[in-house]
Amino acid sequence: MPGWPTRPWRQVPDAGTMTQVQDTTADVAVHVRGLHKAYAGRSAVDGIDLQIRRGEVFALLGPNGAGKTTTIEILEGHRSRDSGEVSVLGVDPAHADRAWRSRIGIVLQSDSAAAELTVREIITHFSAYYPGPRDPGEVIAAVGLADQADSRLRRLSGGQRRRVDVALGIVGNPELLFLDEPTTGFDPHARRAFWDLIAGLAGEGTTIVLTTHYLDEAEALADRVAVLAAGRIVALGPPADLGGRQDATTTVSWQAADGPRTVVTDAPTRLVTELAGTFAGEVPGLAVIRPSLEDIYLKLIARGDSPAASEPVRSGGHDTQNGVRP
Ligand SMILES: Nc1ncnc2c1ncn2[C@@H]1O[C@H](COP(=O)(O)OP(=O)(O)OP(=O)(O)O)[C@@H](O)[C@H]1O
Ligand SMILES: [Mg+2]
Repeated sequence: MPGWPTRPWRQVPDAGTMTQVQDTTADVAVHVRGLHKAYAGRSAVDGIDLQIRRGEVFALLGPNGAGKTTTIEILEGHRSRDSGEVSVLGVDPAHADRAWRSRIGIVLQSDSAAAELTVREIITHFSAYYPGPRDPGEVIAAVGLADQADSRLRRLSGGQRRRVDVALGIVGNPELLFLDEPTTGFDPHARRAFWDLIAGLAGEGTTIVLTTHYLDEAEALADRVAVLAAGRIVALGPPADLGGRQDATTTVSWQAADGPRTVVTDAPTRLVTELAGTFAGEVPGLAVIRPSLEDIYLKLIARGDSPAASEPVRSGGHDTQNGVRP
């Protein structure tokens, strides 16, 4: 989009140090300590501590019912909490005023914008509530709805309506944008375009807090992710490091003379070097695969109910390498 610089996805090298940031500094967009929320005596958020730096792209991951929407809507001032400290842009969202609201953008998990308005009408209408809105036409183009600008919302497809929700979230030019499963219903092309949009906003300095069930989306966009299970954070860190991912074992496979071979190893470089020597050059069918974020996530979730689950997970200890044969 013109005037919106893009940056390569996930490019904040110092994001790993965020846990050291104090809430007293101007660098902190979101501070949460000891957050609890129960519905009818059943805990939905069970003691969350979190700090999100200004300019950071932060993703909340977790299975259905983990407490993501509850957490994010407490941060937005849309739900009350039972206990805990919460500060968003320096303000407690439970006592926020209109000036604070104009500084944040919200895309709820399910939204229902007025069906009889056109895309242009609704975006223009809501832009008028903000002191420094973006140009409605640019926002409509940025979410890929230029061709539908004069269509009524009820005529749009599910994915197109979701894009309207995203447009409404960004039209106020927010400092902090909350997105609860923003790309549900998007086709692959629309998701990639959305990633570019988010990267552009982050490049301008917008803080972004999103939830998603798409692990590739979290990996592409987020500087850090938190994995929630049963209302608790079971892992927190940059996607590349989550749950000991960087040190996790690697699967190496290749085509040996007697058929395909697969070896799980802690020392893939040594193995590949050995293979290269054995084959005296190119190794047929060579593949070196580290666990994906999804592999790590599923392991974290599987042990998510355990109180010790915040320890990094390592998928090691089973090096099955037992001699390299071509
Ligand atoms: N308004 C409500 N009244 C009662 N229980 C609720 C309410 N909202 C959420 N819950 C419960 O709180 C828990 C957390 O729900 P929440 O919507 O925060 O999960 P989530 O992580 O956003 O899940 P999803 O991925 O399905 O959106 C669930 O057990 C849910 O049933
Ligand atoms: Mg939810």
